[in-house]
Amino acid sequence: MHASEHRNVQHAPVTKAVIPAAGRGTRLRPATKSQPKEMLPVGRKPTIQYVVEELFTAGLEDIIIITGWYKRAIEDHFDLNHGADLETEPFLSNDVFRGRDLNRHLFYVRQRRQAGLADAVLHGSAFVGKEPFVVALGDTIIYTPQGVPLVKRLIEAHRAIGAAATIAVEPVRPEEVKKYGIVAPKAETEGVFEIVDIIEKPSPQEAPSHFAVASRYVFEAVIFDMIRRIGPGVGGELQLTDAIRLLLREGYPVWCVRLAPDEIRYDIGNFVTYYRAFIDMALRDPEVGPKIGAYLRTVVTTSER
Ligand code: G1P
Repeated sequence: MHASEHRNVQHAPVTKAVIPAAGRGTRLRPATKSQPKEMLPVGRKPTIQYVVEELFTAGLEDIIIITGWYKRAIEDHFDLNHGADLETEPFLSNDVFRGRDLNRHLFYVRQRRQAGLADAVLHGSAFVGKEPFVVALGDTIIYTPQGVPLVKRLIEAHRAIGAAATIAVEPVRPEEVKKYGIVAPKAETEGVFEIVDIIEKPSPQEAPSHFAVASRYVFEAVIFDMIRRIGPGVGGELQLTDAIRLLLREGYPVWCVRLAPDEIRYDIGNFVTYYRAFIDMALRDPEVGPKIGAYLRTVVTTSER
C-alpha cells in the first residue's frame, strides 16, 4: 500500500500513558511470589518509580497503571506516608513529583483475569478515550544518559508522521528474536522507519528482521478497536503485537524509532537482566556508587584468580 492510500490519522497532543503492570513475574520467583516485579528495587527505587518518572519527565500528564492480584504495593508506593506531605516524603520529593497532585494525575485499574498484554492495555480505554496515548511496560526501565528521552522522541515522530502506532525498537541477536515482537521494515532501518508487518516471538527462521519491540509505544485510540477484534495468540494470550499487525492489515501507518546507541533497556523480567540493572544503577548512585565500584573491582579480581 502506498503512503497516499494510508488511512488518515489525527495529530492530537499526547498527554496520557498506560503502564501495564499486571504480569505475574513467574521468571523472577521466588522474589515475586507475593510482591509485584514492578516493585523490585533497582538501586534506591522500585522499577515502577523509574517508569512513572520517565513518563512525567517526557511531558505526559496523566498515567494509569494496570495492576492486578497481589499488586497493591504499587499503589501504596505512590501514597504519602501517614502525616507526610510531598515536601517531606523522602521518596516522592524529587523534582518530578514536586507540585504534582498524584490524586489527579496517577490512576489505577485492576486486570481481574490474566489475558495478555493487549487485554491489559484495553483496560486503559475508558481513561484514554479517543486520544492518542503512550504504552510503557511497567517492568522495563529505559535509561537515556543524554539527549532527548526515548518516549519524547517516539511522540515527536508519531505526531510528525501521523502514524497510527509508533514503536520503540532495538536490534537483538538471532537467538533472541523468539523472546520479542519482531518488526518487518518497509525499507531502510535508520533512526525512524516504517514497517509492513510485525510478528510476536518468531523463530529465527520466521523473523523478518532482528529489530525487537522495546517496551515503549505510542498509539492512536484505534488500537482499542483492533484489540477487540483479535483472538488469542502466542501463549493463548491477547497479544499487543497481533493488534498492531491488524492495524497494518487495515492500512494504517506504523513506524518505529530506534533506541539511541547509548540508550539502555533494562528488562526487570528475569534475573540476569535484573541483576545487571541493579548493578548499573548502584554504580550510578551519586552517594554510594564509587564505593560499590571499588567493591566490585575487588570481588571480580578475587574471583578471577
Ligand atoms: C512483550 C511484548 C513483545 C515485546 C516485549 C519487550 O513481551 O509482547 O512484543 O518485544 O514485551 O518489550 P513479554 O516480555 O511480555 O513476553
